[in-house]
Amino acid sequence: MTIVSFAAGLIVYAPWLIVLLVVALVPAFLSEAHFNALNYTLNYTKTPERRELEYIRQTGASVETAKEVKIFGLHGFLIGRFRELSEQFYRANRSLAIRRAGWGSLLTAFGTLGYYVAYAYIAWRTVRGEFSIGDLTFLAGSFRRLRQLLEGMLVGFSQVAGQALYLDDLFSFFEIEPEITSPSAPRPFPAAIREGFVFENVGFRYPGAERWAVRHLTFTLQAGEVLALVGENGAGKTTLVKLLARLYDPDEGRILLDGHDLREYDLDVLRSNIGVIFQDFVRYHLTAAENIAVGRIEARNDRERIVEAARRSLADEVIDRLPNGYDQVIGKRFKSGMDLSGGEWQKVAIARAYMRDSQLLILDEPTAALDARSEFEVFQRFKELSAGKTAVLISHRFSSVRMADRILVLEQGQVEAVGTHEELLAQRGRYAELFELQAAGYR
Ligand SMILES: Nc1ncnc2c1ncn2[C@@H]1O[C@H](COP(=O)(O)OP(=O)(O)O)[C@@H](O)[C@H]1O
Ligand SMILES: [Mg+2]
Repeated sequence: MTIVSFAAGLIVYAPWLIVLLVVALVPAFLSEAHFNALNYTLNYTKTPERRELEYIRQTGASVETAKEVKIFGLHGFLIGRFRELSEQFYRANRSLAIRRAGWGSLLTAFGTLGYYVAYAYIAWRTVRGEFSIGDLTFLAGSFRRLRQLLEGMLVGFSQVAGQALYLDDLFSFFEIEPEITSPSAPRPFPAAIREGFVFENVGFRYPGAERWAVRHLTFTLQAGEVLALVGENGAGKTTLVKLLARLYDPDEGRILLDGHDLREYDLDVLRSNIGVIFQDFVRYHLTAAENIAVGRIEARNDRERIVEAARRSLADEVIDRLPNGYDQVIGKRFKSGMDLSGGEWQKVAIARAYMRDSQLLILDEPTAALDARSEFEVFQRFKELSAGKTAVLISHRFSSVRMADRILVLEQGQVEAVGTHEELLAQRGRYAELFELQAAGYR
């Protein structure tokens, strides 16, 4: 309203003053918009560098990396890399800021000049007697106010427009569609799996990878059995587990559960029926109880269930030794935290599997850091406790592997052999060879 009434006053007395006003303001506005866009582009194109910078900062200053940074003396290297990157980023930012300030001052000066030209013009006409002193006061005042108001509006507008560039990124992020989705009319999940999982000529390549991680994979994971997966690093064991949990879908072939494609079941229901502990499980810097409860986060206040899960995974001995027991924060990130050894962390992580009522339990090498006796006990219990459930266990220790009902030997993403420990030994294939190699090491 203020703008409209001042503008009306100006139009009556001296319409071209409005034109002058616009001419004086618009270039500054355009330059703001231009530099906003440049600034955005700079931030956008430097995203990898900014990420790297953040990564180096964390690497140089976190608990997880402290041991190696000290032992290998990496601080100089990390500081150098950080300095180099931030220097680059700083220089790019500075040159933009200088240009922005330069153009900004120039165009603002232009705007100010416009103001004085208008002022001089009004004064001149007053001197010539065409305007009264009252007109002069009114015009000069409204011209100045109008300029301030319009400038404020344009500045506000250009700031909003500048932020909107980033908002655009947010919206394009929201538009990303998940690749793994539930069907619109999912098939009811079997209350008790009857037949099991059947892999039919399954092939899968990681996005962007040339090599097939697994291919021509055909086998059955029978309901109620404990199946062990063995194979060298990179053979495709973890990939197989990820396909079972539908973290990825196969590129070739299909996986059936009780005769129907996994993709016909609801994704959340499927995942809630599968309990997987991966080799690279997460170490939450939370309390011991919460670290176990993440296996079934709704039950985080069910202390009885947590204690029972800990008992099953042998984590109870570890937790009993902590000063605050289940309420002890573990990990070293926080002041009150107490760190655990690798094997102790693993026992805590394995308890997560027992928090769930899943029909399929999978341990993907989360026992690598356990001592021989602990791994043996953990697997023995795992086998007992998964009675009636389907289970998959992955380990490089043959003493554990042989406990399984059946063993699947993977080699370069393909099934090389399947059978019981005795059958595989009798076949004298790779399994027997690897078994002998390990056994010989202990004699
Ligand atoms: N996220 C990934 N992206 C690309 N390739 C991967 C990824 N994870 C694993 N691979 C590749 O897939 C193959 C199988 O890996 P994986 O299933 O993890 O082996 P395993 O668990 O038997 O050691 C390997 O060649 C590995 O390099
Ligand atoms: Mg693996």
